[in-house]
Amino acid sequence: MNLNIALLAGDGIGPEVIDQAVKVCDAVANKFDHNIKWIPALTGAAAIDAVGDPYPPETHKICQDADAVLFGAIGHPRFDNDPSAKVRPEQGLLKMRQELGLFANVRPTFTFPSLVDKSPLKRERIEGTDLVFLRELTGGIYFGKRGREDNGETAYDTCTYTRKEVQRLAKKGFELAMRRNKKLCCVDKANVLESSRLWRETVQAMEKDYPEVTVSYEFVDAVAMRLVQWPNTYDVLITENLFGDILTDEASVISGSMGLMPSASVGEKVSLYEPIHGSYPQAAGKNIANPMATILSAAMMFDDLGLTEEATAIRDAVNQALEKGVVTEDLADKGTAHGTKEVGDWLAAQI
Ligand code: IPM
Ligand code: MG
Repeated sequence: MNLNIALLAGDGIGPEVIDQAVKVCDAVANKFDHNIKWIPALTGAAAIDAVGDPYPPETHKICQDADAVLFGAIGHPRFDNDPSAKVRPEQGLLKMRQELGLFANVRPTFTFPSLVDKSPLKRERIEGTDLVFLRELTGGIYFGKRGREDNGETAYDTCTYTRKEVQRLAKKGFELAMRRNKKLCCVDKANVLESSRLWRETVQAMEKDYPEVTVSYEFVDAVAMRLVQWPNTYDVLITENLFGDILTDEASVISGSMGLMPSASVGEKVSLYEPIHGSYPQAAGKNIANPMATILSAAMMFDDLGLTEEATAIRDAVNQALEKGVVTEDLADKGTAHGTKEVGDWLAAQI
């Protein structure tokens, strides 16, 4: 198969972890006789520095024309500490999600048998956890009306959803549940928010089309609690943008390291694959960041392209690396940490 993949390394540790993912994907292509053409494009603070725009039109064109997009991370501390900055790297990410129509963010959380004891949660709480969040990604408070009034003394952000937006996300949730354990949890705050009541009403109306799926409705605060108490009781969870942002960070610690958790952002056409961690600027250039989340994101990409064996080859290699202790410092026992590049080399050689 010939594949054109847009490569958006971004900022901080983005370029390092992306390099490892490219190496691993090239090893897969070699083994299974595919031809991958990587098309690098600018994004984030790197793009602001180069062309003054965190998601330039050239990058958008490259992404639109690609079979998939592999993305590192964006963000730079010099913007975090400057609330008056006019252009921020994160705007590039939001623009990219919106312009590419990436309305569903798929964030799985699972445990690795060899890492269960690295989790801050007790073994008996997390064993068997295998859940997926479907976070709505192009609506809600992230994209609602916002502003200042009262000479800047009052600020507001609004959370808006249309029934259609809820339906298309929920449809993906039901379909995913059908391919898994047939349990769907709709996470909302319907006891307070009108937008949540629209979510609940919309999902309830769809239940009849998926009679095999057991649907539960839970308030977001209760889910935040149950997620660390009994994560292994969940299967598929659907939720709006901001709730999903918060809960997926919480869920990521279950596995033992945020450096392991992949994600996919899917929409109508091209999909994007990225680690759920950020740009981790403190580690940039030090060869210490864990590349596995990006590499496992590439596995999700192969899965979605219908290349299941290729995806499995990557996951098997990662499992072996974890078992053999070929891991970066976030997972290593004292004095045994491998570098980012060494982990990438090992995985590529293994494949
Ligand atoms: C994420 C990130 C982004 C978000 C930031 C960087 C804008 O936290 O992908 O979860 O809030 O969506
Ligand atoms: Mg986040």
